Amino acid sequence: MRHLMSPLDFSVEELDTLLTLAQDIEANPAKYAHACAGKKMATLFYEPSTRTRLSHEAAMLNLGGSIMGFSSADSSSAAKGESVSDTIRTISCYADICAMRHPKEGAPMVACQHSRIPVINAGDGGHQHPTQTLTDLLTIRNLKGRLDHMTIGLCGDLKFGRTVHSLIHALVRYPGIQFILISPEELRLPDYMRQDVLDKLQIPYKEVVRLEDAMPDLDILYMTRVQKERFFNEEDYVRMKDFYILDRKKMKLAPETMYVLHPLPRVNEIAVEVDSDPRAAYFRQVQYGVYVRMALILTLLEIHVD
Ligand code: CP
Repeated sequence: MRHLMSPLDFSVEELDTLLTLAQDIEANPAKYAHACAGKKMATLFYEPSTRTRLSHEAAMLNLGGSIMGFSSADSSSAAKGESVSDTIRTISCYADICAMRHPKEGAPMVACQHSRIPVINAGDGGHQHPTQTLTDLLTIRNLKGRLDHMTIGLCGDLKFGRTVHSLIHALVRYPGIQFILISPEELRLPDYMRQDVLDKLQIPYKEVVRLEDAMPDLDILYMTRVQKERFFNEEDYVRMKDFYILDRKKMKLAPETMYVLHPLPRVNEIAVEVDSDPRAAYFRQVQYGVYVRMALILTLLEIHVD
C-alpha cells in the first residue's frame, strides 16, 4: 500500500506517468467516470481549505466514487482529544483512501503509520503540500511543455510556505532548473532548504528582495501569500503582508512567455487587474488540480483504466 507524504515519494519516472495520466483524464473524462464506483474517500481537514479539500472531493466524485469527511478539527472528535492515530484507525473502517490536512508538521506521517488505507498529505503545517506540487508540475508542464531548463521565481513567504518547499524538492530533480528566491529578509527560505537541498545538490539560485529585479529573467513566477496563520504576532504580519503586490506595471517587466502561478488563496499579493493578463495561470492551475488528484487517487488505489 502506498501513501503520498512528499513529492519525493514518486520517482521522476512515476511522476511523469502520473502527469501523463492526468492529461489523459483531461482529454477523455468519460473514460474515467466510473473508475472508482463503490470506493469512498474521506477528507480529514483539521485546518481550513477551499481548493485542496474540494478538489479531492471533486476528483473522487468525477471518478464515480463517494466522499465523506470533516472540514475542521472542531467538528470531529479531535475536539474531545482524540489522537490522529485513533482517528485514522477509525477512518480505515469506513473509507478506501483519505486526504488529511493538519496544522502540525508530520501528522499525516503519523496517520499513515497506523492506517489500513492510503493516506494523502493534503498539507502539514509549514512542511509539505505534495498534491499542490503535483498540481504545479502539471500546470508548468502543460503551459511550457517541459519541466526542465527553466528559471523559476519563488516570491513571498518562502519561510513558512509549504507549497514552495514541496515545489523546490520536486523541481531540483529536473536538469537545468535554477531559482530566484524573492522575499524580505524575515521570510527567507529556511537554512534546511537552502543548505541541505539547493547547496547540497548544487542548484543555481540567487536571493533578491525586489520583485522588479527578478521579473525579466523568469520563465515561471510562483507567487505566494504571506500567511497570517503562521505568524506568532500580528505586528510582524501587518508589516509583511503587503510587501509584494504584483500589478500590471510589474508584469510589463516580464517576458511574454512567462507565466504566473499561485497556489491560492491570494490576499493582496496579485492585483485583480493581473487576472486578465494571458500569462496569469493561477485559475487554470486550480482546474489542473482536479485532474492530477484524479490521477493520484487511481494510482494509489491501483486502479487501471484501459
Ligand atoms: N492551495 C491550497 O492549499 O488552497 P486551500 O488552502 O484553499 O486548500
